[in-house]
Amino acid sequence: MCGIVGYCGPRATPEVLLQGLKRLEYRGYDSAGVCVAHHGKLQVVKRVGKLRELTLALDHSLPGSYGIGHTRWATHGGITETNAHPHLDRTGKIALVHNGIIENYETLRARLENKGYRFQSETDTEVIVQLISDFYQGDLEDAVRQTLSLLKGTYGLAILHADHPDIIIAARNGSPLVIGVGEGEMFLGSDVAAMVAYTRQVIYMEDGDIAVIDRQGYRLTNSFDRKVDKKIETISYQLEEIEKGAYPHFMLKEIHEQVHSIPRAYQGRIDHENATAKLGGLNMKSQQLLHIDRVKIIAAGTSWHAGMVGAYLLESLARIPAQVELSSEVRYRNPIIEKNCLYFAVSQSGETADTLFAMRELQRKGATVLGIVNAVGSTIARESNGGVYIHSGPEIAVASTKAFTSQVTVFYLLALMFARLRHLSWPEGKKFIAELESVPGKLSLALEQEAHIQALAKKYAAYKDFLFLGRGINFPVALEGALKLKEISYIHAEGFSAAEIKHGPIALINPETPSLFLVPNDSLRDKVVSNINEVKGRGGPVIAVCEDGDTEVMRLADDVITVPSVSEFFTPLVMVVPLQLFSYYCALELGRDVDQPRNLAKSVTVE
Ligand code: F6R
Repeated sequence: MCGIVGYCGPRATPEVLLQGLKRLEYRGYDSAGVCVAHHGKLQVVKRVGKLRELTLALDHSLPGSYGIGHTRWATHGGITETNAHPHLDRTGKIALVHNGIIENYETLRARLENKGYRFQSETDTEVIVQLISDFYQGDLEDAVRQTLSLLKGTYGLAILHADHPDIIIAARNGSPLVIGVGEGEMFLGSDVAAMVAYTRQVIYMEDGDIAVIDRQGYRLTNSFDRKVDKKIETISYQLEEIEKGAYPHFMLKEIHEQVHSIPRAYQGRIDHENATAKLGGLNMKSQQLLHIDRVKIIAAGTSWHAGMVGAYLLESLARIPAQVELSSEVRYRNPIIEKNCLYFAVSQSGETADTLFAMRELQRKGATVLGIVNAVGSTIARESNGGVYIHSGPEIAVASTKAFTSQVTVFYLLALMFARLRHLSWPEGKKFIAELESVPGKLSLALEQEAHIQALAKKYAAYKDFLFLGRGINFPVALEGALKLKEISYIHAEGFSAAEIKHGPIALINPETPSLFLVPNDSLRDKVVSNINEVKGRGGPVIAVCEDGDTEVMRLADDVITVPSVSEFFTPLVMVVPLQLFSYYCALELGRDVDQPRNLAKSVTVE
């Protein structure tokens, strides 16, 4: 995963690099390093651990107006200072940072070792810088081009050379890179967040692009050395959106933001007069949409759970057969592209390698793949055949919260649009819209349970295993609850359909294993209540999330979290919020690093 930054200009270079890395730390936080060029010398500082270690070690007034930096999520080689980036070539004159994976690095390394090169690190990255060194005969860009032609895999690269202290070379293939344009200064980053404090003018590099950047501007060429003209885009989000503000953690901020981020996903997209949704980004006319016989959704992790809710909605409301599949499985399954089948790739970051590669494979076979993406300008957003931005704003905490509810909200719009094209009446469409628009208010009420949920987290955080159980449209919410708890608190948790426990998982029930049941007042409520009885009968502690006033569930369960009543289709939005808060407070109780849990990174750009 990793985050890359680069800067050339009059500001204090170490400060700009550290600020950029701080914004990109969500991409990886095993170790970090910077290199600053000054008077033909490269100064490299690297530290293992979070960025604060590097911040403490670095002389912030280090002179030099060119620099590159990196925050790492280890793939090849352990978490050590030697394996941290930037890496230097054998002459110590070339420095390089890399995001991605070089698949043929062992062959390349062996070739260089035969020529007498000695490697310092265990990384795949070091072969790139040594190859550049090997090809270098005074023309850095030429040496970079020759090197890139040998690489198999993915990379976002930033390169400095002590003898060319007025340029940074950047190259992209499969790992995002953005150039920021300032006045008399230029920026580079894996994401616009790295530069938003300084400039809003950006250029998104494409695969195959090579950029030579200096203080005055940039020259962009493709892999055939042909000039590439790209429009400078203006980024819209505000600095406050990527700051914690008064909240102790991004995750808590983002949970609370859902009251506003859900409306952002539907505002301007509802056609009240015709009781339907208008989604221009799909690039499809009503006639084309009418011919769609099937929908397939691909995604990973939390986005996969949102896709599962989406498939349920498309089938139940729009009566379109819909399936959801893990993108990591799609690509290598040699998928069959059916006629009149529309695909959706769901991704918060728009950079998830599994989803991106699956999308490309589907497109290669002739499928139309639309994106449901948060990160504007991300690779999936750009390469999909159209789609819908979820507009939840930057999501910084590694655990996804507001993106999930916004993705689900976009599926409400899609299901409404398809349903209205087919069978749903105008009054039914109106009712559905009114219910959707009432959700944010109900979410505020759900958030009022926060202090109670915090108290429950105190009571339950010491348990080692949890089951999350839900049915129907809330089965994916149970999976999501379990994922949230395990990823940030490290408590073992599994999600199941409540009906499924009797087929095996009930063997786990004992007084040490709490079950968290989702019990909306829907068509399956009574069946879930029976499942609660089965668990209680075997001595398992039960926490139930149910609707306010459900006295039977309140009596049965050991502890209850109540949520406001909404109609069946909308229950996932109110049910998931207490689960997010419960995970957050359990993690806090256990002293975990909530926003940056161990071993994880926000944007999973490796397979
Ligand atoms: C969990 C989480 C991950 C992501 C997954 C896909 O909280 O954030 O499971 O949902 O890595 O990421 P995107 O949505 O960026 O494709």
